[in-house]
Amino acid sequence: MSDDNQAPRAPTGTHDVLPPESWRWQRFVDDFARRADRFGFGMVHTPIFEDARVFRRGIGDESEVVGKEMYEFEDRGGRQLALRPEGTASIVRAFVQHRPATPWRAWYVTPSFRYERPQAGRYRQHHQVGVEALGSEDPDVDVEVISLAWGFLTGLGLDQVTLQLNSMGCATCRPAYVDELRNLLASRVDELCDEHAERYAINPLRVLDCKKAPCIAVTEDAPKIAEALCESCRGHHDRVRVGLVDLGIDFVENPRLVRGFDYYTRTTFEFSSGALEGAQNAVGGGGRYDGLVEMLGGPPTPGIGFGIGIERALLALDAEGVPPELPPVPSAFVVDLTGGEAARAIVARLRGLGHKVERAYDGRSMKSQMKAADRSGAPVALIIGAEEAATGSVTIRMLRQEAEQRTVAVDALLADVETTGVIG
Ligand code: HAM
Repeated sequence: MSDDNQAPRAPTGTHDVLPPESWRWQRFVDDFARRADRFGFGMVHTPIFEDARVFRRGIGDESEVVGKEMYEFEDRGGRQLALRPEGTASIVRAFVQHRPATPWRAWYVTPSFRYERPQAGRYRQHHQVGVEALGSEDPDVDVEVISLAWGFLTGLGLDQVTLQLNSMGCATCRPAYVDELRNLLASRVDELCDEHAERYAINPLRVLDCKKAPCIAVTEDAPKIAEALCESCRGHHDRVRVGLVDLGIDFVENPRLVRGFDYYTRTTFEFSSGALEGAQNAVGGGGRYDGLVEMLGGPPTPGIGFGIGIERALLALDAEGVPPELPPVPSAFVVDLTGGEAARAIVARLRGLGHKVERAYDGRSMKSQMKAADRSGAPVALIIGAEEAATGSVTIRMLRQEAEQRTVAVDALLADVETTGVIG
């Protein structure tokens, strides 16, 4: 059989999310939304595709994400567009376009698209929750943003997460450091991995992030960016560290943490899970990007944010053995042996009172409807037979207790539910 005859499947590296797994996602995002709201972040939606220049300028043409992984295409009108590979550049583009008053705090939940080699924890469409705080250089904002992510991840039940911290310096101190690193790499170019032997000069910082043994060996004794910071960046970094200590948030300094986007300045951080495999162990990451607004055509405006990978965080929860929360069971299941009209009415009334209620359809037998009631997990079946229908009543059968049942008038049941909030 040719591929054309096969039923289409989700593209490689993408996943459908169905119940009950989707319930975890819902809870995850709800929890994040509540926390973000507490910190003063408002939800922002931006289009899933943008003018490709948003990412080219913001993230950097030479970055892996833009250079090798971006889904870029020309639309029918000849515009060069790209599917969003991450959330930050889009939010900053929206900020520049709408110019809201600063400080401006945005949170988002978004699919992100990167043409990666799919493997456990690495997908071509993944999802992130994240925040971006624009308009303040105050190191306390860095501390707040990090503490929001930290509180969220630990609140999910993750115990084996490590916060790694670094500073990337700024336009004042970074160029000299990058030159120094470039010179060192030039003197040992024969020892670098194939890719970096060819490309190290374009952005030497990427070599610090290379996971291949030759690059790790060459950069082992390389000067650390943290030691090359200007006074202002040093002061900023120290304040961030003090703030984290003050809030009881443990961190380790990682001078190799340069991250994959060109927009970062000063604070960078990553949350890695000890329960996940090495290369895919980051459950979230972020940092400051004090030049990004300008790069996208806006006035000088500092910013900082993070993104947390939903799939990664859920994998980490599984790997740590945190049991997934299951969707709540219905409060009642309506069994109607008289054709379904009575069920239609009572289900509508109970749902109108705020209850999760299920019923059977298609005029099934009593046995089949009771089986469905049992499978639903509902503690109560509301049974309508010929006699109940004739007298406007319903038989309440407790499904999790031994053969307990009674028949009451439908109106009395509804009045009771309204006052007690409980069915049965
Ligand atoms: P990022 O580190 O590229 O940062 O992505 C954030 C998180 O998304 C990662 O830590 C990881 O959990 C998840 N992630 C990334 N790529 C994949 C993938 N291919 N498959 C599954 N999960 C993945 C950013 O995207 C920045 N925008 C974060 C940021 C916000 N920086 C400042 N503000």
